[in-house]
Amino acid sequence: MLEVELCDIKMKNPTMLAAGVLGSTAASLNWAARSGAGAVVTKSFGLHPNKGYVNPTTVEVTGGIINAIGLSNPGVDTFYGELEKIEKTTPTIASIYGASAEEFSQIAAKVENLVDIIELNVSCPHAQKGCGASIGADPKLTGEIVKAVKNAVEIPVIAKLTPNVTDIVEIALSAEKAGCNGLTLINSLGPGIKIDLDTANPILSNKFGGLSGPAIKPVALRCVFDVYDAVEIPVVGVGGISDYRDAIEFIFAGARCVQIGTSITYKGLDIFKEITDGMKKFMYNRGYESIDEMVGIAHK
Ligand SMILES: Cc1cc2nc3c(=O)[nH]c(=O)nc-3n(C[C@H](O)[C@H](O)[C@H](O)COP(=O)(O)O)c2cc1C
Repeated sequence: MLEVELCDIKMKNPTMLAAGVLGSTAASLNWAARSGAGAVVTKSFGLHPNKGYVNPTTVEVTGGIINAIGLSNPGVDTFYGELEKIEKTTPTIASIYGASAEEFSQIAAKVENLVDIIELNVSCPHAQKGCGASIGADPKLTGEIVKAVKNAVEIPVIAKLTPNVTDIVEIALSAEKAGCNGLTLINSLGPGIKIDLDTANPILSNKFGGLSGPAIKPVALRCVFDVYDAVEIPVVGVGGISDYRDAIEFIFAGARCVQIGTSITYKGLDIFKEITDGMKKFMYNRGYESIDEMVGIAHK
């Protein structure tokens, strides 16, 4: 009933672990898979090791959290060792970032034998200069990176887009035209800031960061709704999903799959089973037999 295909990759259900929330080690990716996720996305990794920002890198705010981790990761050569230890029971998606089409292509080519899909992080709102959202805000650059990675690998390539642009549809269309096989919407919103009343300083070491969690759900849902109308390739929805009702809303808006990030910090990895059990009951009660028949029905 919950089975779904994303870019010809079969998933037992449409839920996925979102990039960056756990996903830094094989152990945490395997744990998410065993907890019932239909697929797992790694923490974004780049060509070289990156320390990221110093603490504090996350702060809780009403409706979610603001984070500026700064894409800390050990680099592709070390992360390769983690990818080798992943149990092959659940599709694995490698989230990668870089500062150029060449860097993205090099990383993707190094890991394509160990993963099912590449997710291009062209959308991090607190990445170092030249990476992340500075790419994803530019339709031409986004298209160039998609094209280069598509030429470098055989496996499907998905681009994860930022909501922090004037027109996300323009970026989505450019990625699709360049040969992208799917789109993940959205990375965290913002950037946002929180100030400590005692010290009168911004709390995060980087001062600002990306907002995630339930507060961003209506924006994420609108991005999925708009992009679904404009493209032919599948859309993966992410942003503020905390229960099965949220997941169904995203599917009705046009998402084929949904990713869960911040809510794991509130509910733990049991959230995957909670959401899939809830979805099954909802579908049974409403007479839906497959995810496919629910995708995008809010557009009728
Ligand atoms: C602590 C933290 C780290 C994140 N790291 C990444 C990352 O490495 N790559 C990426 O593409 N997105 C990253 N994200 C963004 C999430 O994957 C997701 O797009 C966003 O948080 C919205 O979903 P959510 O509200 O379910 O968390 C991160 C989010 C959080 C909260």
